[in-house]
Amino acid sequence: MMSPAPAADQNGSHLSILRFSTAGSVDDGKSTLIGRLLHDSGNVYEDHLAALEATAKKAGSTRVSLALLTDGLKAEREQGITIDVAYRYFATPRRRFILADSPGHVQYTRNMATGASTVDLTIILVDARTGVIEQTKRHAFITALLGVPRIVLAVNKMDLVGYSQDRFEEIVADFTEFSAKLGVREIKFIPVSALEGDNVVERSGKMPWYGGETVLEHLESVYIAGDQNLVDFRFPVQYVLNPNQNFRGYAGTVASGLVRVGEEVVVLPSLAKSKVKSIAVPGKGVKGAQIPEATSRDAVVIQLEHQIDISRGDMIVRPKNVPRVTTQFDAMLVWMGDVPMDTATRYIIRHTARESKAYISGIDYKIDIHTLGRMDPAPLASNEIGRVSISTTTPLFVDPYQKNRSTGNFILIDPVSFLTVGAGMIIDRGRSEGAELEDGEAAPNLHHEVALVTQRERELRSGRKAVTVWLTGLSGSGKSTIAKAVERSIFDDGVPVYFVDGDNLRTGLNKGLGFSREDRSENLRRAAEVAALMNEAGVTVICAFISPYAADRERSREIIGKERFLEVYLSTPVSVCEERDPHGLYRKARAGEIKNFTGVNDPYEVPESPALRIDTAAKSVENSVEEVVALVVNRASL
Ligand code: ADX
Repeated sequence: MMSPAPAADQNGSHLSILRFSTAGSVDDGKSTLIGRLLHDSGNVYEDHLAALEATAKKAGSTRVSLALLTDGLKAEREQGITIDVAYRYFATPRRRFILADSPGHVQYTRNMATGASTVDLTIILVDARTGVIEQTKRHAFITALLGVPRIVLAVNKMDLVGYSQDRFEEIVADFTEFSAKLGVREIKFIPVSALEGDNVVERSGKMPWYGGETVLEHLESVYIAGDQNLVDFRFPVQYVLNPNQNFRGYAGTVASGLVRVGEEVVVLPSLAKSKVKSIAVPGKGVKGAQIPEATSRDAVVIQLEHQIDISRGDMIVRPKNVPRVTTQFDAMLVWMGDVPMDTATRYIIRHTARESKAYISGIDYKIDIHTLGRMDPAPLASNEIGRVSISTTTPLFVDPYQKNRSTGNFILIDPVSFLTVGAGMIIDRGRSEGAELEDGEAAPNLHHEVALVTQRERELRSGRKAVTVWLTGLSGSGKSTIAKAVERSIFDDGVPVYFVDGDNLRTGLNKGLGFSREDRSENLRRAAEVAALMNEAGVTVICAFISPYAADRERSREIIGKERFLEVYLSTPVSVCEERDPHGLYRKARAGEIKNFTGVNDPYEVPESPALRIDTAAKSVENSVEEVVALVVNRASL
């Protein structure tokens, strides 16, 4: 597509830019509408038009198919290139436009995942013959969910209903009734025929009963100033630029807020503090053109006064205004995968410039798209929307979507196909100001001290790497028995080693934690932090925890470090564990005296690829211990 020179007003300054998107079912005429907008506003090159006229002639038609103007996307799709969204730039003397456009079949869901989550307006197309259908409601609901403040409901194909005012008003009434619950700030209704060109750019002579604006007139004049979040400065680092020793800059797009040269900043997750030394927009030379401040949507390179270790995916923010640093949050999720969501799948989450592994750890409810009411929780199938909890293995820096659209949205990607399967908006859990810090949350007044003795030095002195053996399995599978014997054996070889047991930790450090999903998660997070500290000190750790959830074990792996974390799965069948029942707990659980007992009335998620799998029903304690010790020796070599 073309990208015309920026339009300028009489004073020569750039006009405000309007970002918008379109939504509609496949046959509603979206491509034709876009083509018509571009064509009638003079935004199509002569040669492109000539080519289309030739195509039309060949097909024996005198009419150019405007939909073909937007076929660039289709071609890319046919070549198998996955694109979620493409941006079309066009301009009129009154304004510049950025249209976030997506291939027809995925339009609204992919849109919301990427560009459209920051649009100022969405045009929803309705076929005048069918009127407001389920898909229209879904589009409108998602638009509202996205916080898009304005909707244009373009009632298309008016030519096919005889340009009937009654039909138009019927549709207006239908949509008005439905949208009352949505809370969208501004809704505009325009009767059009994209094919005939009525009320798209030119006013139609065929609908004298409509005295309002055409689509383009509305796009040109709608007032959008004041939409942006200029308060909460968030700068996700996209690239670290280090072309020579004298220059180290951080490139990215300001997600929200404003920052000036000289201002104090803090870097997440390290919490390192510094000041902004310079801000540049890419241009001539390495340093580009210097500017005094950057605001939301500016693509800039920031230099800091201090040399700090920053990598891609880190975020630069202001010291007194930090996002939540967390591995767990709630979200409204729109599912777009062909296969329904699955709580055992390890998805990839993409949020700002960060990526992590993620699990859908809970489903609260589904939305009934007709009534906008809540339905019982169940895994979301394609196109369904619901409220879920998400757990990630590395912390993300999040804001509630309502407060900050750019740091409040994310997408979920299928780990095998790499297709986008979900798009979500983060919901505030309603934490009050000054409440306790949440999981992994950055405390703004903390400073991370770096010791003068490094872990590497410690390891070189002891001649081996400290690792953590993480024994997971059902109660009664033999975790503690094996852990204790492994500790004894390794200790006897002269290696510093320590056994950390679930039951023991629960009477001390983890006193007060129970067996709910959340409590187990916290229990294991603390255990992993303890193991990481001991490893850092050079002590090998043998952990014995049921650790029934894959997400929690995955997080332990991240905390401890994947090169040190050795997952050992005791796969002993539940029937055997229950028969052993060393502490009579299965009996109590069966009698209903213990709730959430793993294996009886609480799930155990089997590890996918443990370093070692042992069925203690089929192997002696001695042999099992030998296998674990061999693994440790193997992995501990420097
Ligand atoms: S974990 O799920 O959070 O990893 P952990 O290993 O610390 O559990 O503690 C498990 C021990 O707690 C069991 O060995 C058992 O003695 C005791 N226990 C008490 N209630 C439960 C329960 N509902 N489910 C599992 N174990 C329980």
